Amino acid sequence: MNPRLSLPLDIPRSELLTRAADVIADAWRSFDQARAREPELTQNLREWAGEGLFDAPMPALEALDRAKRYLDTSIAQARPRYFAFVGSSGLEVGVLADALASTFDVNLATTARSADLIEAQALRFAAELLGYPVGGGAFTSGGMVSNLTALTAARERALPNARQTGLSNRPCALYCSEEAHYSVRRAAEILGIGADFVRCIPTDAQHRMVAEACAAALEADLAAGITPVAIVATGGTTLTGAVDPISSLADVAARFGVWLHVDGAYGLPGAAAPSTRGLFAGLERADSICVDAHKWLYLPKACSIVLVRDRHALSRAFSHNENYMLHDADTPLNAVDSTLEYSRPFRALKFWMALRVHGADQYRTAIERNLEQARRCARLVRAQPELELLLEPQLSTVPYRHVPDALRGDEDALDAHNLALVKAMQADGRVYISSAVVDGKACLRPCFVNFRTSDDDVDALIAVTLEIGAQLSKQRSPA
Ligand SMILES: Cc1ncc(COP(=O)(O)O)c(C=O)c1O
Repeated sequence: MNPRLSLPLDIPRSELLTRAADVIADAWRSFDQARAREPELTQNLREWAGEGLFDAPMPALEALDRAKRYLDTSIAQARPRYFAFVGSSGLEVGVLADALASTFDVNLATTARSADLIEAQALRFAAELLGYPVGGGAFTSGGMVSNLTALTAARERALPNARQTGLSNRPCALYCSEEAHYSVRRAAEILGIGADFVRCIPTDAQHRMVAEACAAALEADLAAGITPVAIVATGGTTLTGAVDPISSLADVAARFGVWLHVDGAYGLPGAAAPSTRGLFAGLERADSICVDAHKWLYLPKACSIVLVRDRHALSRAFSHNENYMLHDADTPLNAVDSTLEYSRPFRALKFWMALRVHGADQYRTAIERNLEQARRCARLVRAQPELELLLEPQLSTVPYRHVPDALRGDEDALDAHNLALVKAMQADGRVYISSAVVDGKACLRPCFVNFRTSDDDVDALIAVTLEIGAQLSKQRSPA
């Protein structure tokens, strides 16, 4: 206890820290194994959450204990059988780096001295891991903001000085596949391009953007006096993990002189894995790329990376000189000039720590293991007559559905059955899965992006699907 502080703790810091370390160690131990089911949300937890503001302090250990109980009864993506959406797996050194970054709370604006060096090195690590030429970049809060960051730079190149003058009635457009993440539309909304000017280009049978259709859309817009801002290739769509043909789209971008951005928020780690590297051919030709380190690079949220080939592209879009933020003339590029944030956490530290502690080889192996788990899942699905694989996995997403004999051929009933199956599996609690619609069919959509997931967990997913799927069909048609 330090009586000189206006916000004193009621116990020595070391005691609180030791208890917090125990909480974290227990959580990590628990995450290593799947739970038989999720714990109950108790009446106490509901009642405490209804309480109003207190004037009096609560003992720190009690508050810590409450926090732990709320966290333990929340859905944790870090668990090995969490297969929903695109999860985070909370890599241990990332958690510790977050604590360190918060402790030192470095100010990353004009110059932060050593932290600037780590941020620059971490960007180079990302570029090398993914096979992208080192230019400039920034750490952001997620794929949404990384895409917005890259597309702001693209808009500035397509419509110079748009940041100053606004669009001034200059219509412009973005080009992405019809399965691109909605963050592209969000960027169009925010940048004044307008969601109506996002050209959703058709995809082929593998859900990849058709490059010729993209070229045709560009031609039509140019003929109509609409300025193309950027082509956004998705390097691993959220729905199916489809990787757009980056090389062909780079050809289109070069032909029309348009910016090419690769949204690899989910899938770009696949560029680091030997078995899928080929899908990302042409990546080095993109003007910008992004990857979420809090997805398939295993770090806790929030940590995304945007990289640009031209190291000044971001500062052209974002630099500001303000009287309260005098730039350091000796620093070649003040960090604040590469991001749309001002105050921001030191996100680079956890990526840097993870790459130092594990090295690129362990990372490549972990990504490859998830890819192999997706292939295993697809094999298990193919081997079961009551399961149908909707799409061969390109990366680590495997959409499939349960097709009981009694419902075969009845698409509406199959949709209802599979949506009910996902709900029933979530309530059961042994695995956590989300639903999706692929090619008009409701399905289960597991995504393997967790370093804790083992082959046993993949097998459990299929076993639980078959068990609960059979129970549901039996309930519908009692013998
Ligand atoms: C392809 C793609 N882009 C962007 C995003 C948005 O990322 P975030 O949730 O980190 O903002 C996602 C999220 O799943 C995604 O899959």
